Amino acid sequence: MLDAAAPVSATPPVIRREDYRPPDWLVPEIALDFQLGADATRVKAKLTVRRQGTHARPLRLDGGGGLTPISVSIDGEELHDAWRLDGDQLVIDLPGTDHLIETEVQIAPSANSTLMGLYESGGLLCTQCEAEGFRRITFFPDRPDVLSRYTVRMEAERARYPVLLSNGDHMDAGDLPGGRHYALWRDPFPKPCYLFALVAGDLACNADSFVTRSGRTIDLGIWVREADLAKTEHAMASLKASMAWDERVYGREYDLAVFNIVAVSDFNFGAMENKGLNIFNSRYILADPDTATDADFDAIAGVVAHEYFHNWSGNRVTCRDWFQLSLKEGFTVLRDQQFSADQGSPAVKRIEDVRALRAAQFPEDAGPLAHPIRPDSYIEISNFYTATIYNKGAEVIRMMKLILGDEGFRAGTDLYFDRHDGHAATCEDFIVAMEDASGADLSRFRLWYTQAGTPRVKAVLETDAPGGRARLLLTQTVPPTPGQPEKLPMPIPLKLALLGAASGKAMGGEQLVILDEAEKEVLFDGLTEAPILSINHGFSAPICLETDRGPADLAFLSAHDEDPFARYEAMQQLMLDTLVAAARGQTVDHAGVIDAVRNTLTDPHLDAAFVAEAVLLPSEAFIGDQLEVVDPEKVAVVREALRNDLGTELLDLWRDAYARAQANRYEYSPSAKGLRRLRTVALGFIAAAKAPDWAELAFAQYRDSDNMTDRQGAMGVLANNEGVERERALADFHDRYAGDALVIDKWFTTQALSTRLDTPEKVEALARHPDFTIANPNRLRSLVGAFAVNQRAFHDVSGRGYRFVADMILGVDRLNPQTAARLVPSLGRWRRYEPVRATLMRGELERILAAPGLSKDVFEQVSKSLG
Ligand code: TRP
Ligand code: ZN
Repeated sequence: MLDAAAPVSATPPVIRREDYRPPDWLVPEIALDFQLGADATRVKAKLTVRRQGTHARPLRLDGGGGLTPISVSIDGEELHDAWRLDGDQLVIDLPGTDHLIETEVQIAPSANSTLMGLYESGGLLCTQCEAEGFRRITFFPDRPDVLSRYTVRMEAERARYPVLLSNGDHMDAGDLPGGRHYALWRDPFPKPCYLFALVAGDLACNADSFVTRSGRTIDLGIWVREADLAKTEHAMASLKASMAWDERVYGREYDLAVFNIVAVSDFNFGAMENKGLNIFNSRYILADPDTATDADFDAIAGVVAHEYFHNWSGNRVTCRDWFQLSLKEGFTVLRDQQFSADQGSPAVKRIEDVRALRAAQFPEDAGPLAHPIRPDSYIEISNFYTATIYNKGAEVIRMMKLILGDEGFRAGTDLYFDRHDGHAATCEDFIVAMEDASGADLSRFRLWYTQAGTPRVKAVLETDAPGGRARLLLTQTVPPTPGQPEKLPMPIPLKLALLGAASGKAMGGEQLVILDEAEKEVLFDGLTEAPILSINHGFSAPICLETDRGPADLAFLSAHDEDPFARYEAMQQLMLDTLVAAARGQTVDHAGVIDAVRNTLTDPHLDAAFVAEAVLLPSEAFIGDQLEVVDPEKVAVVREALRNDLGTELLDLWRDAYARAQANRYEYSPSAKGLRRLRTVALGFIAAAKAPDWAELAFAQYRDSDNMTDRQGAMGVLANNEGVERERALADFHDRYAGDALVIDKWFTTQALSTRLDTPEKVEALARHPDFTIANPNRLRSLVGAFAVNQRAFHDVSGRGYRFVADMILGVDRLNPQTAARLVPSLGRWRRYEPVRATLMRGELERILAAPGLSKDVFEQVSKSLG
């Protein structure tokens, strides 16, 4: 995996799960004193340390980012010879069991471009400590199993930093000479240092409150720049809904008297669950109908809920070590998915979640960076904040819920929270709590934590219709992944039913079959009609499914299945089978798909949101994932051909759907959202049909809409095609929203995702646009991240797309290694492509690896991708 020939000093160490040892020293109390300034901040830390167990090992405090001590004192005495630096660690030999350690350091927030530790964003000072950022602020045992009570004193210039926030309760504040002021915060809950946060700046507050079920009033604050205050209403409503939901569904009440959220514009991820002081990427807080799409509103509700839910699943019960990351992330993703499903349409939410899983996690599981949801080793933990840990982690807990039933699962989570409250726990602890509370035996189920790779399940139904009998043969294989050549069969819960081929009704209802061996046979009798297999209802297991159902059965299911997910899935499978056959060079007939789409469009019982999902063709990437060797251009061409035929053959129906959806008035509700979604989907098909008025329609939608969903939707359709309307819309959009960074991000993304053939050149030019910068992660991802998922453009056979992304990775790595490393996987999947592209991609990876001074973040991703 790692290049053995590389000099030892150049190969960063591998951290292994099996090497875990409890901490030698605990830190029950920490008092921090910040003299804040953008260019120079002084940090004094007082740590009460306690030896754990009998050993003679010294106290080791982590440092990072060039942290050097100004002074170190032990039990009140400044000692120069009692400590030493070992790499980034401060090492102190201590004679007794209890000591007081005081350190002082100076750091430079304005020079910190990594966005880890204390940094400056838009004039604010803020922190990001997960996973290992706290060590860039002060010397400390930076590991999640060291829990401390924090007292934080912050001092700063009052004019520049009128608001001073940290975790917990606000204890004191006051003015100081020289235009300075201070604030004192105390968090009564012991926490690991990755949950520490502070913010200083000129912020306005949307203040509100929430009364808990036990009658406590919590002060809520969402802190943003004054100009953004009007865009915080949706986030506040989402927060209150989350608080009520967690009480109702998981019995979890909020614990502090205050809950604050701060929005910042430079942030490596979505948001961070710091105790009582969540810090958010502004894109997951700020919204109004003119500047945010329905998808943005949904994402805000989901992320606000996710971070809030971490207060229990993450903060009250935290992780013992970073290998347990899915303990908090998988569980919390499941919780936010359940919340969002309850707020809107559960079927549509499930479709969206599965689409996201297939887009991000399945390829990861099938590529060089595949890892189990509880990994065994890493070089840089930031690289493991992955779709596998988050989304597959959520699927695994969702399966436990299915196996245990809702009551058993709730008993399990109650026991888990109860047993581990205030402690750092493991994935194993979670599973044991589930077993103890429900009596279930999850021994084999644990394989989901140790084995990587997406299981493939084959389902073959043999019928003996006259005798009323059928036999379902289920087989599974788990593909080899790096470091795991052999796999054991896993327990796969499959919700299924047999549908009567005449009535469309499920004969004998839905049943849950657990495929827990390599093979399993399920027998049915008393069937009154010829059966059709409907399987993996609600996507009950995160698998790839292969069946022997032909186009007629799939079309039937797409029209009749009672499980909405299975119904959607049947249509997807029908489309996918057609597209995969075409991509393999077979001649295909589009009539079956066209008929099924016609049925869906004319079914009066379906709501618009479902229809809009069901008629969408599988993405180019997902089609490619089904092929042995991918030629992205061929995939794009066959997909476009089916789109054109669907557009042309069903033009009148698209026009009807468009007209129906157009009559919709703006409102953020599931039904209005569904109509907006259908409207732009229909517009896309009208454009694909090259109807003479498509550009006029699209431009009118662009110009006249009163909301960003419709406007951006129309701009996206225009951006994919030729014409003056395209240029007019893009220019107008840029003018209209100049200065609104989150909207300008959309302007970049729309162009980066364009299906036009000149997209690679256009994207290179956009990288020279005055609004582009690699220093802001949102802006970088809006152009480069979007381009890297644009299958046809990124994989342009000239290789210029690969070169462009590799150059960006190298450029960003010097500033922000975490964000640079997240761009690697698109190049890393080179083995899946035809030889010309594969060679070009590998060449770029080799060029990156040869560059001097590579971060360990990028080194790990690139070396594993080549390995
Ligand atoms: N715990 C955060 C979440 O899932 C993730 C996160 C936010 C993060 N910022 C980060 C992870 C920086 C690594 C680095 O909600
Ligand atoms: Zn999280």
